[in-house]
Amino acid sequence: MVWKISTIIALATVLPSTLGTSVPPSTSNLQQVCAKIQRAVSSASAVFYPGSANYTADNAHWVSSSTQSSACTVEPGAAADVSIILQLLGSTKSPFGVKGGGHITNIGFSSTTGVQISMKRFSSVTYDKKTQTADIGPGLVWDDVYAALEPHGVIVAGGRVSGVGVAGFTLGGGYNWLTNQVGLTVDTVTAFELVRPDGKIVSVSAASNPDLFFGLKGGFNNFGIVTKFTLKTFATDKVWGGVIAYGPDQIPAVEAALARFANTNTDPKAEIIAAANFMDGQIQIDNIMFYNGPTPPPGVFDEFLNITSVSKNVSTRSFLSLVQAGAPTAGPRGAFHVATILDFTPTTIAAVVNETIFWGNKLADDGAFLVSYNIEPFMSSIYSHGAKSAYPPVRNAGYLPINLNFAWTPAKSDAIFHAALKQSANHLTDVAVHAGQAVAQAPLYSNYALADTPLERIYGDNLPRLRSIKAQVDPKNVMGLAGGFKF
Ligand SMILES: Cc1cc2nc3c(=O)[nH]c(=O)nc-3n(C[C@H](O)[C@H](O)[C@H](O)COP(=O)(O)OP(=O)(O)OC[C@H]3O[C@@H](n4cnc5c(N)ncnc54)[C@H](O)[C@@H]3O)c2cc1C
Ligand SMILES: *[C@@H]1O[C@H](CO)[C@@H](O)[C@H](O)[C@H]1NC(C)=O
Ligand SMILES: *[C@@H]1O[C@H](CO)[C@@H](O)[C@H](O)[C@H]1NC(C)=O
Ligand SMILES: *[C@@H]1O[C@H](CO)[C@@H](O)[C@H](O)[C@H]1NC(C)=O
Ligand SMILES: *[C@@H]1O[C@H](CO)[C@@H](O)[C@H](O)[C@H]1NC(C)=O
Repeated sequence: MVWKISTIIALATVLPSTLGTSVPPSTSNLQQVCAKIQRAVSSASAVFYPGSANYTADNAHWVSSSTQSSACTVEPGAAADVSIILQLLGSTKSPFGVKGGGHITNIGFSSTTGVQISMKRFSSVTYDKKTQTADIGPGLVWDDVYAALEPHGVIVAGGRVSGVGVAGFTLGGGYNWLTNQVGLTVDTVTAFELVRPDGKIVSVSAASNPDLFFGLKGGFNNFGIVTKFTLKTFATDKVWGGVIAYGPDQIPAVEAALARFANTNTDPKAEIIAAANFMDGQIQIDNIMFYNGPTPPPGVFDEFLNITSVSKNVSTRSFLSLVQAGAPTAGPRGAFHVATILDFTPTTIAAVVNETIFWGNKLADDGAFLVSYNIEPFMSSIYSHGAKSAYPPVRNAGYLPINLNFAWTPAKSDAIFHAALKQSANHLTDVAVHAGQAVAQAPLYSNYALADTPLERIYGDNLPRLRSIKAQVDPKNVMGLAGGFKF
């Protein structure tokens, strides 16, 4: 069930890192910048101000805690206009945000009190049968992409549940339903169209610009604004799967089934996400099963299907239908974090379940809405499918991110929940280390990590190369005016 909530105007704070070294323009200067943009762009683009529904939609995020009130919003409709806008923002040193699907939970990463750029008008999907690739607009959510590709009998390796944006997902890495087969979403990108901070519009591929190609595969908005993704497509007709939910009585049986799946599945077409959720005073495990084919071979999921469930939405269906069967719950305020391990053993799975119950109970008085941990037991070979990229920095170990997803109501509890996310992720890492897994310094996934995660923990040994590419492409640090993990 998707929980739609009205927009709460967040405190108008801008993270210090979003300001670079410059003094932010005053509100009146920002209004002048908005007016300048409006005059300079073509009729393909538009600027909106507080009071219009478009302004509200352009600032809105999946969790309203990462929604800010911008001076104005701009919806560019052409790469040439993005170029004009970026140059104006750079020359006036105006803080800005770039938003795709708005699903990042870190405040200020795709929001701003300056000029909010919403990429929503970049919404086309063009399938090229000859090259088996699709050109995809960065304003789309994956549901729209799958719907557009369905008539061609192909899919792309993108979001696993409904509503997630193409842009941030792809620019951060992208764990997907085909990850066991083809790797991360970045491993399926053949080209990016990029508007550089100096206004140049370039096509970035492995051949045309190996440094930027490496950097954009995990480097988010550090190098400019992406106006087109070209992704490999994969022939797929019907798939099988959906969500099966288990109540508290079945937890031991589900833990055993998860451990067995994690340690014995050898079919790369089979994947699961098991979310241990604590809500309304009790635990439930929601398991999304996926098989890339109309029927899974006997044995792959039978143990899960055999356990008494409280609800079940599992069938042979279209890929889009499977993705939409997973409709995540957004709380009023929320944040993600991550612990990386190597193996989901009975010990590490029990620790995840224990954390869910422990923090679910402990945070109840602080206004917890949801305390959730996602177990994603991919195969250990998933990083063998791609070339070097900003993320992941290490490809010779089968690191598995555990996604922590906490949601709560009162703004005054923000610090408590952020601290709990870190403490819990550290605890799970310790459990894995004590069980003999070498993960004390394992990479943390960019799209799940809290805003103050040290860049070294995300990008590892790639950081010096990323910083040198950044210095070449953006010597004036224009992209430093936008938030995010900054090289
Ligand atoms: C319900 C839910 C499910 C998720 N499932 C998965 C999953 O299965 N696998 C996974 O890997 N991750 C998953 N995530 C995490 C997801 O990948 C990130 O939240 C991702 O950043 C979302 O992309 P977006 O476009 O919606 O984000 P936004 O918030 O719009 O943007 C995120 C970042 O990308 C930058 N950006 C956006 N557009 C551009 C652009 N055109 N050019 C340059 N920079 C840009 C923004 O400035 C920002 O820093 C999930 C998140 C949620 C909330
Ligand atoms: C504003 O948003 C509405 C609803 O999304 C849309 O129909 C309309 O075209 C938008 N207006 C402009 C000028 O973009
Ligand atoms: C299903 O459950 C029954 C009864 O609990 C058990 O006998 C059987 O072995 C189970 N099958 C699988 C595949 O787990
Ligand atoms: C099952 O999921 C589909 C989305 O794929 C949804 O339309 C349908 O309502 C769901 N059925 C139930 C019983 O929840
Ligand atoms: C459960 O989690 C809490 C919090 O991390 C920890 O203190 C406790 O030792 C855990 N209990 C078990 C049995 O693992």
